[in-house]
Amino acid sequence: MSKKFLVVGNPIEHSLSPKLHNYWIKKNNIKASYEKKLLEKEELKKIILEIREEKIHGINVTVPFKKKIIPFLDVLTDEANKSQSVNTIYKIKDKIIGDNTDIEGFKIALETTRQIINNKTALIIGAGGVVPSIIIALKKLQIKKIFITNRTEAKAVEMKKFFPELEIVEWRKMIDFDIIINATSIGLNEKDEIKIDYEKISRNKFFYDVIYNPEETNFLKKAKNFGGQVENGKTMFIHQAQKAFFIWHGILPEIDTETLNFLRL
Ligand code: ATR
Repeated sequence: MSKKFLVVGNPIEHSLSPKLHNYWIKKNNIKASYEKKLLEKEELKKIILEIREEKIHGINVTVPFKKKIIPFLDVLTDEANKSQSVNTIYKIKDKIIGDNTDIEGFKIALETTRQIINNKTALIIGAGGVVPSIIIALKKLQIKKIFITNRTEAKAVEMKKFFPELEIVEWRKMIDFDIIINATSIGLNEKDEIKIDYEKISRNKFFYDVIYNPEETNFLKKAKNFGGQVENGKTMFIHQAQKAFFIWHGILPEIDTETLNFLRL
């Protein structure tokens, strides 16, 4: 019997998960299919029921449901619980398990850039669903200090309740940092811009954008122009997918140049 997997979110059009998972499924001769599905909040319960009934065998969850899905699950893994964020779901025995592979995905992504994180300072822009995973990964890599800034400051304050060591920076105020991470959705549209003084802050700093489609947001383009080192969210995306694939199929698929080229748009 062919197994069925899905990525659910809203919007979902930009997701490259089906492309990557189906590529690995084929490469490893697995009997399965992976599709994307646009979901409304009201449909979360139903989709979990379909996993219970084994009509679906696993799902990836993306914005804006990573937290909202939690009440419908039976068990959270330690990483999912710590981050209150779930991106990978599966059933073991009679239990629906919520897992988080974003933390490992982001951690490995940073490790492969060979940027030194240990003892550095980071500024995170945004306070949405992916941010707890980023914070936990940065802490595992022994970051010295994390600053956070968000348009809606109340959400940064909420985040600080969870991670008291965070320091909140006023929106549009700039501070000195080693690493800056865009964790907002600004950049999903090519014209979007994060208004900071790139000329002043970019040189020798590391810019990470969680966005991977488009490949180069204005945030990365401008930072690069002014001497910054840049990395887009593709590495995090691929590594979280690799972990999810392993959880579902018990096979760690290869991330080689062929895979990377295949993903290029
Ligand atoms: P959610 O809020 O459901 O977790 P998300 O996509 O994970 O959604 O997060 C969106 C992030 O992008 C938020 O930090 C959001 O800022 P607000 O909390 O102020 O909404 C940020 N964001 C999106 N569009 C933005 C914009 N035009 N300007 C500034 N921040 C923006």
